[in-house]
Amino acid sequence: MIVIEQILRYIAWLEYPSWVWAIILAYFSIPFVFYWVLPSLHQRRYYQKNANDDASNKRHQVLVIVLGDLGHSPRMLYHVKSLVQQKQYKVQLFGYLQSTLPQFIVEGVDNGDIVINEISNGPESRRGILGMVTKVVRQHWVLFRLLFAKSVKNSKFVIIQNPPILPILHVVIVWKWLYSPMTKIVIDWHNLNYSILQLKFGGDNPGKIKSFLVQVMKFYEFQLSKFARYNLTVSANMKDYLINAIYPGASSIEKTVISRKFIVLRDRPADQFKVLDTQEQRITIMSKEFQRIFYDNMALQDFDFTKDDKIIVSSTSFTKDEDFNILLDAMKKYDQLMQSQPENYNSKIFLLVTGKGPEKPQFLSKIASLEFSQNIVIQNHWFTAAEYPKVISLADLAISLHLSSSGIDLPMKILDFFGCGIPTISVKFATIGELVKDGVNGYVLDNNTDDELCSMICKTLTNEKIYQKIKNGAIEESKHRWDDNWKTVLNDIV
Ligand SMILES: *[C@@H]1O[C@H](CO)[C@@H](O)[C@H](O)[C@H]1NC(C)=O
Ligand SMILES: *[C@@H]1O[C@H](CO)[C@@H](O)[C@H](O)[C@H]1NC(C)=O
Ligand SMILES: *[C@@H]1O[C@H](CO)[C@@H](O)[C@H](O)[C@H]1NC(C)=O
Repeated sequence: MIVIEQILRYIAWLEYPSWVWAIILAYFSIPFVFYWVLPSLHQRRYYQKNANDDASNKRHQVLVIVLGDLGHSPRMLYHVKSLVQQKQYKVQLFGYLQSTLPQFIVEGVDNGDIVINEISNGPESRRGILGMVTKVVRQHWVLFRLLFAKSVKNSKFVIIQNPPILPILHVVIVWKWLYSPMTKIVIDWHNLNYSILQLKFGGDNPGKIKSFLVQVMKFYEFQLSKFARYNLTVSANMKDYLINAIYPGASSIEKTVISRKFIVLRDRPADQFKVLDTQEQRITIMSKEFQRIFYDNMALQDFDFTKDDKIIVSSTSFTKDEDFNILLDAMKKYDQLMQSQPENYNSKIFLLVTGKGPEKPQFLSKIASLEFSQNIVIQNHWFTAAEYPKVISLADLAISLHLSSSGIDLPMKILDFFGCGIPTISVKFATIGELVKDGVNGYVLDNNTDDELCSMICKTLTNEKIYQKIKNGAIEESKHRWDDNWKTVLNDIV
């Protein structure tokens, strides 16, 4: 108090007129005005302007980016569909354009709800590590050019998938930081890229450079992903796995907190996958849409699918993580049973394998070497996105040989089978129990052997009671659809 009294006495003693005091005050307020008042005024105007823009002439917009072929990224396309149909967002979709896109995307593009930005794939790059580097550098250039465009600035969300997440994740982080601060990053975790890379490099002892690359990939995936605002995972197991891998050593209390950072959004079959209610519907589809397969096909001359003979489907991309020998050997055993015990086994089997991929020649030569009788017909066909759901719906039974490289993702194709109400036999891996319930909607192999698979096929095809039970389970499964699930899980977030 004494100090203040003294200062006041000193000021009185100065006897300056009031305009001098005004100048002194103005001088001392300069930093305050420049560092605080002006910026905050500017910012408010800026945000108001943006809000007006959004309300009047711009719909909220979401970016969905896939560093892969869009036609082969069903889950990301279903996101797009739900964003447009349920939330009326405009979606800017980025990806490679290699195969045909489903009808709902084409319609969305026609209506102006969806804009497709092609990430051009470029010339086939060299193999090996140098090729990988060239590819990544090129992708940077293409992505930055697409993203630093006025039309995508400050979109509400950007959704990316993992894998592949390199280089898209850091590109998006830098882009957000420099150019689009209002955008929230969402990572949809389908699998882990580093485990795929490890598999590609040949297992546990890949050599120094390669295992270094795997470590870099792991670091990239686990650390940069912390910049995301939301993380979606395809399964509960995937969520647990990610938490344990990214936050090792977290206590169980910490884990419950971390647990909120990950949202489980299970895959569900899309609407194109439908259950056929009657035998007539089935015959109509066979004769009208797949005449080339069921009627003009010499191998199926003696088959009657309205009676005992059965259609089994299995879809694949013929990669190393699916061992087709299990299925082919099981079919050979079934073939032998039909010959030795014709009174017990009278269903001829048409095994329709859909898809294409690198290991296809091995698959075909194995079929040739097994020399099946005329009771077993195994063929590989490729179907368009529009045909695929229909041909699946014709089957009596489906088989999935997918073994996930991380052991934690759920194969989309099983959901498609269930969407059509087709009971499914799957090989065993960690998460499969979240989807295929033994004896309820299908069967899960125990030791992944051909003997087991053969006995399960026999059981389901010869015992009508068992078949009806799992058939009903699969039809029950078909009632849970993507759109409802998406709404329940994500409605409050997006
Ligand atoms: C990530 O995974 C994909 C397969 O999904 C693979 O083709 C790609 O090479 C991987 N990228 C890196 C950098 O490991
Ligand atoms: C997941 O999302 C949260 C936001 O809830 C974020 O803070 C977190 O870092 C994200 N990523 C990882 C790997 O935890
Ligand atoms: C799987 O293997 C285990 C151990 O070898 C065996 O006990 C079990 O019976 C096998 N299961 C089937 C269905 O063959």
